[in-house]
Amino acid sequence: MINHDTITKIMETVRIEEVVGDFVSLKKRGTSLIGNCPFHNEKTPSFHVSVAKGIYKCFGCGKGGDSVHFIMDHEKYSYPEALKFLAQKYNIEVEETVQSPQNIEAQNARESLYIVSEYAANYFANEMWVGEQGRAIGLSYFKERGFREDIVKKFQLGYSPDVWDALIQSAVAAGHKEEYLEKTGLSIRNDKGKLYDRFRGRVMFPIHNFTGRVIGFGGRTLKTDKNVPKYVNSPESDIYHKSNVLYGLYHAKKAIRDTDNCYLVEGYADVLAVHQAGIENVVASSGTSLTTEQIRLIGRFSQNVTILYDGDAAGIKASLRGLDMILEEGLNVKVVLFPDGHDPDSYMHHVGSGEFKKYIENNRKDFILYKASILLKEAGTDPIKRAGIIRDIVESIAKIPDDIKASIFIRECSGLLQVEERILLSELNKIRVAKFKKSGAGSQGQGSSSFQQQHQGQNQYQPYPDGPPDNLFENPDAASEFIEAPVAEENDLLQEQEIVRLLLAYGHELVSWDKIDNMYIGSFIMQNLADVSFQDELCKKVIDTYRDEIENGHLPVASQFINNEDRKIAELAITLSTSPYSLSENWYNKHNIYVRDESINLKATILGGLYHLKKGKVARMLMDIAKELKTETDPVNQEILMQRFIFIKGVEKEISKFLGTVILK
Ligand code: CTP
Ligand code: MN
Repeated sequence: MINHDTITKIMETVRIEEVVGDFVSLKKRGTSLIGNCPFHNEKTPSFHVSVAKGIYKCFGCGKGGDSVHFIMDHEKYSYPEALKFLAQKYNIEVEETVQSPQNIEAQNARESLYIVSEYAANYFANEMWVGEQGRAIGLSYFKERGFREDIVKKFQLGYSPDVWDALIQSAVAAGHKEEYLEKTGLSIRNDKGKLYDRFRGRVMFPIHNFTGRVIGFGGRTLKTDKNVPKYVNSPESDIYHKSNVLYGLYHAKKAIRDTDNCYLVEGYADVLAVHQAGIENVVASSGTSLTTEQIRLIGRFSQNVTILYDGDAAGIKASLRGLDMILEEGLNVKVVLFPDGHDPDSYMHHVGSGEFKKYIENNRKDFILYKASILLKEAGTDPIKRAGIIRDIVESIAKIPDDIKASIFIRECSGLLQVEERILLSELNKIRVAKFKKSGAGSQGQGSSSFQQQHQGQNQYQPYPDGPPDNLFENPDAASEFIEAPVAEENDLLQEQEIVRLLLAYGHELVSWDKIDNMYIGSFIMQNLADVSFQDELCKKVIDTYRDEIENGHLPVASQFINNEDRKIAELAITLSTSPYSLSENWYNKHNIYVRDESINLKATILGGLYHLKKGKVARMLMDIAKELKTETDPVNQEILMQRFIFIKGVEKEISKFLGTVILK
């Protein structure tokens, strides 16, 4: 029993933001602090901390409480364990009514595993710094490799004597139970029931959880014998779950948060070397290939990961897939490659810490662009291989949950791959639709936001990520009829012509609408058409020419279409520009909408034109699917078509919602 005064003292001392802050990256928002909830997986923060009240509350999963609750929940501690944890954090002496501070027979088994692990770490360290064999072999090994003493101490490195039961002897003599040595995997019982040490004659790397407690070990052999495994690692135990542990996180977490970046390396030695170079925001996924849990763990501290690779090409290619996983978790991924087969450890010792630091700062590349460039190099000029790469890259991009980010990559890769942006966009869209179908979503809920997601994904310039602002629209009644109007083939043509007309009439107008600043309507329209393909030959020609010109830095003028050498284009341009409103009048009148003067509300006019066009396209897709459904007999294909139909229907609904509020004055 922890005595009452101690509890009071702990409660008076702890600061919720510091307690939570050790586990969650918090940002100030108004009077409270917010971050990503550590109790459920989320990408947008709904976890709130009130400094004044000393409490936290997650509006996503509902968890909440004070500092003690947080530690209990997060660390799966009992009440007294959580209090002791906090007491230790704030250097508060714990007074217990029944004194049992050094009592090895701790109240619960997990605690015993922690205790015996900590004992072992101290034992190994002591063996290395004091033991004869340890000093001669272990310590000198680290020194030869160029590791400074402060680094060796900081990471509690040690040495396990080359004896069958050195640790067991020492631990049992100190009062530890064999049971716990076995449960942590520090010792192994053979068939004959005899207990022996797992780690013998190895330099020892204790593995800490991110609160700094020892939970396992990696032991590296000093022998060059190929039959001896280079590393022996602790097995999984009640306190060591490899998939959610990162080596070095305890020592790195503050720096990761401060620098808002996490370096990821492969080995224990790399973590030490990078630290020695003065870079503390580094972790390794030692012993396992990177897991989703590990990525989420990093994500709690920073959204930016920089992978420090060794320069071996085969290894790089193998790891590309794994890195997609990081993208999928919404983190930004950069990579740094080292020359001549160096890994971070060897390179740091090769060039020294100053140069090393400079090198990684100057040589980080964005992962997707980097991936594109190495795959391209590999494919050479082979067109089939190149086509495969496009798919591969777009697949990576499709993993990025943030649409705006994804479309920036699409744009950059379009330059790199020499492929038109809209081709990449349409590829991206295909993958997303496929993913959507596979996820079985698209019926409700998700479907409703899908238009915005899809739409932004297709188009980085979408100026209204949340839909056009409300004040743009009035009189939804007038428009609702207009929306419900049946979409005929003819409307497709009219809508395409309408866009051409708007381009010719207003392309040169400079506008500033909300998020767009001083932009030509011509550019604005083109950018919003990135995801649309035109059916009508003539319209398509005009649009393509317009796009090419803009991409080459010219803004086309109406007269160049009016005087076009292609008679048909000229005729179209003349028709569309000489009777500016005839088309829309005609069309709108059919649906009893009174068009006053479109130029008064250009924004509504232009957006209306764009969304109607898109709505038409979507309607056509729906009709096509419906047709296919009629003739499709295979039930699996039918199901796929149905899913697709439902999904696109959701998109249509979203467009209608946008348009439902449009009034054309
Ligand atoms: N590893 C392992 N078992 C092995 C080899 C490697 O568990 N047999 C893990 C270790 O966590 C190691 C990491 O994979 O740290 C990377 O392997 P490697 O690059 O070989 O290890 P380094 O830490 O770089 O070791 P060193 O530089 O001392 O050779
Ligand atoms: Mn190495």
